[in-house]
Parts: sequence; C-alpha cells; structure tokens
Amino acid sequence: MLRPFYITTAIDYANGSPHLGHAYEKVLTDVISRHLRMSGRQVHFLTGLDEHGQKVQQTALKRDLEPQVLVDEVAAVFQRMLVDLDISHDDYIRTTEPRHQKVVQQFLQKLFDQGLIYKGQKTDWYSTRQEQFLTERDRSPDGSWPEIYGEVTQTTEENYYFKLSQFQPWLIEHLRAHPDFITPRFRQNQVLEFLKDPLNDLCISRPKTRLTWGIALPFDDAYVTYVWFDALTNYYSAVAAKGLWPADVHVIGKDILSPPHAVYWPCMLKALGLEPPRQLLVHGWWTVNNQKASKSAGNAADTLGFVASHGADAFRYYLCREMVVGQDADFSKTTFENRYKADLGNNLGNLVNRLLNMVGRNYAGAIPAAAADEELERNLRQLWQDTVRKYDAAFAEYQLSHALESLWVFISAMNAYIEARAPWKLAKSTDLADRARLDSCLAHVAEGLRLVGTILTPVMPATCGRLLTHIGRPVPAGFEGQLVWSAACTGSKVAENCILFPQIGVPGETPAG
Ligand code: MSP
Repeated sequence: MLRPFYITTAIDYANGSPHLGHAYEKVLTDVISRHLRMSGRQVHFLTGLDEHGQKVQQTALKRDLEPQVLVDEVAAVFQRMLVDLDISHDDYIRTTEPRHQKVVQQFLQKLFDQGLIYKGQKTDWYSTRQEQFLTERDRSPDGSWPEIYGEVTQTTEENYYFKLSQFQPWLIEHLRAHPDFITPRFRQNQVLEFLKDPLNDLCISRPKTRLTWGIALPFDDAYVTYVWFDALTNYYSAVAAKGLWPADVHVIGKDILSPPHAVYWPCMLKALGLEPPRQLLVHGWWTVNNQKASKSAGNAADTLGFVASHGADAFRYYLCREMVVGQDADFSKTTFENRYKADLGNNLGNLVNRLLNMVGRNYAGAIPAAAADEELERNLRQLWQDTVRKYDAAFAEYQLSHALESLWVFISAMNAYIEARAPWKLAKSTDLADRARLDSCLAHVAEGLRLVGTILTPVMPATCGRLLTHIGRPVPAGFEGQLVWSAACTGSKVAENCILFPQIGVPGETPAG
C-alpha cells in the first residue's frame, strides 16, 4: 500500500491574529488534500502554530501575561479560523507541546555530539523584527536596511552555530538532481542563484539574558534555540511517532523559502541523517487593494469578514480561482463580489435552479432519461471529457486556478446548451421529437451538474454536498467511477428549489441563484 501523502502548511507566528495570507495557505493545502483523498490517496495534513520567540515574549510582557497563556489564547483564535474555513487537517502542532520540544532537543544534541554545532563569538547586525542576524548583502543598494527588518542594531554575542556551510555542496547537488524540489521552478533557480555565494554558518541560539521564551539547548542551559531551528523541526516532530517522514509537500509563502525552507531545513535534515522533504510548493503574496496583506498594514484581517458574509465555500473558491499558484494576487471587494455574482450565482447557482424548476414543472420532480442524442449533446459530453483531463492535469501541478478556469468553461457551455435547446419552448411543443429533446436536455444538465458537484467538492465541500443532494444524488466519498458521463441521475427526485449563493448585502432584493 502507498504510504499516506504527507502535506504541511507553514506554522503561523503566534504574535498576531490570523489574516488572509494565513487563510489562503490553509485553503490551498486543504483543497489539495481533499482532492487527493477523493482520488483515493490517504493523506496526512499537518498545520500548526509557531509559538516561541522574542515577539511573543514582548507581547506577553506588555500585556502582563505568561507567554504560555498568551499563546494558548492565540492558538484558540487560529484554530477557530480553521473551523470557519472548513479545513480538514489531520493534526495541529504547537511548538510549545512536549512532543515537539523533545524532538528539537534530540536534534540539537545529536548535531552537537557530531561536532556540527560549535560555540562562537560574533559582532553582527541584528533585526529584532525578523529575529535574524543580517549580513552586508542584506542591505539595500543605497546602504540602508530594507524596511522589512525594522530597527537594525549591532550586537556582540557568544552563541552556538550550526555548520551550515559544510552542507552547501550537497545542497547544490541535491537541487540540481531534483529540478522539481521547489515548485514553481523559477523559485528553484533563484535559490541556486543565492547559493552561488558561500553560506555562513547558522547561529542557532539566543542567550537567555535576551530571550527566555524558547526551547533550552540540551547542552547549555544558558541558551534557548533560535526560532527557525525550532519552527522547521515541527514538520518532523509532529510525525516522528507515526513514521511518516519525509513530507511530500511543504506549502509555504515566497517570503520563507530562502534561506529557511530551501537552505536551513534540507541541510539540518542532511546533517541529522534524515531525508529532505520531497517538494516545496511556494505561493506568492496576497495584496489587498495592491498593498501586501499583513498584520502591520492592518488591511488583511478584514478580508476574513467575507467568510462570515458570503460563506466559507465562496471564499475558498475565490482564493483558489483568483491566485495563480506561485504569483501574487490582489484581493478586492469588487473582484470578490464579481466572482460571487457571476461565477457562482449566475453561472452555477442559476443553472441548478433552472434545472430544478423545469424538472419539477414537467416531470413531477424526477429527472428524465436522455432520449434524443444530437450534436449538441455529443459536444457537451465531449467537452466534459476534455474538461476532466485539463482539470486533472492542472491539479497535478497544483494549478488550482487553471483547473477552475477550465471547469467554468464547461459550466458556461452548459448554460449555452440550455439557451440553444430552449427547454421552455420544447415543453410547449406537442411534437414527440421535441419531447425527446426536452428529456435529453434536462438529463444532460442534471448529469453535467452531478459531475461538476463531484469534482468541485474539494473546493466547496458544503455547497457541493447541497448541490448533489438537491438533484437527488448521494455525495460520493471519492472520484472513483464518479467522473465519467453516465445515466446516474435518471429517476432521481430533485428538490423544489435551491439557493446555493444568496444575494448578499442588497436589502429588499429577492435572492437569486
Ligand atoms: N512562523 C513562520 C513559518 C515557520 S514554518 C516552519 C512564519 N509565520 S507567518 O505567520 O508569518 O506566515 C505563515 C505563512 O503565511 C507563510 O507561509 C507566509 O508566507 C504566509 N503569508 C503571510 N502573509 C502572506 C500574504 N500576504 N500572502 C500570502 N501568504 C503570506 O513565517
């Protein structure tokens, strides 16, 4: 048997509230996970919270709380978001959990015993905001420190270092031998470019005089370990007891690709004698009205309001449809509302209602069998075959927006098919051939909707469940045998009507679709 597909998101920092960037990454990973599960693959989906570090310590101090109390509070808020977004993760790891701390300490001890961690002294530039030492090459061309680093100060400190540089040749070799290690591929090229300069060893400790909120070094209690060493290890510690390593995919944003995920993590694992993850799937940034969505910009939390107003499924659809994985995308009220009205309400929702109305009116609510088979029907069935092929191919590359784009071509074609058939006219005809066409038209639309509702379940689980139930079909557990054109809907009893995407925010108007 194939081992479970092990997929993770980054673990979110516990120093703020959830926002669009966090939400997107969970949705993307969730849709991939659900799609794989329905394709028959067992999946283990991990997400979690990154709870240590200076910023958490500072916030706790400011609010006069124990850091643990603070992170418990934050964890509840982040986990609430997962429920609101209908995320189907199998495990949630918090870096303050004993199962995690134990593994971090084992890793540190092992590297120390192997002589791969040494103590050294350095005077360096340090960014408090990023909790990271900087080098000259982090400066902007004009010599200043880029905005993202916040205040940068010089400090001299004794610390422990991991011999990262020793693994550089191996890493370059590994990237060359696995051109798909980082996807999309242009990101891998960027990392190779970065590796043209020699790597510095990685400082992996902070003296407790400066930071207490962390995992103590097992060989020197005066220090805690650096957040990245701690955080990255979550992917392993969460499954250490389950034997699921290596991960198949780490889903991350572009800001934490290099060096953390593309350099530190594979080198840490190599040094520990463990396999690197199979792949890093790197998404771009969401901007909100063309500004980076972030806690500090304060623009990104509001976007989560659309989950409450329009439902998790509409939000999930929008995120998957609007962002080309790997590129940046912009979130705006206008594009959201347009997609909600056009793609969901008009194109899909109205089609469902048209079907229910006509089956109700002309066939006492039972979907007829296809009787006539003309060019229009053959074309629609052919288009479905092409659509499944494209959809699968796009999904295999995690290009969800392309998959949805092709699915909506099919949905539009169904609308065009209804227009061309004009069943409302056929229903008035006394000609037997017209009656046969009417049977076929409703049978084809029902079947098309069954197929759409099935393939789209990973993106909009609750909505597709309702769609299928309303056309009298059970919700399938998997895709097997369910994505081929069939007569499965014949005789199914449909509901009277079904509002999948109610009109929102315009008082006084009746809902449609
Ligand atoms: N704690 C680290 C990750 C450790 S993983 C071992 C961290 N946390 S974060 O909260 O800042 O970000 C979590 C994830 O959300 C990252 O993958 C990050 O790229 C993503 N996003 C945060 N803001 C984002 C956008 N505006 N747009 C899309 N995703 C972005 O980094």
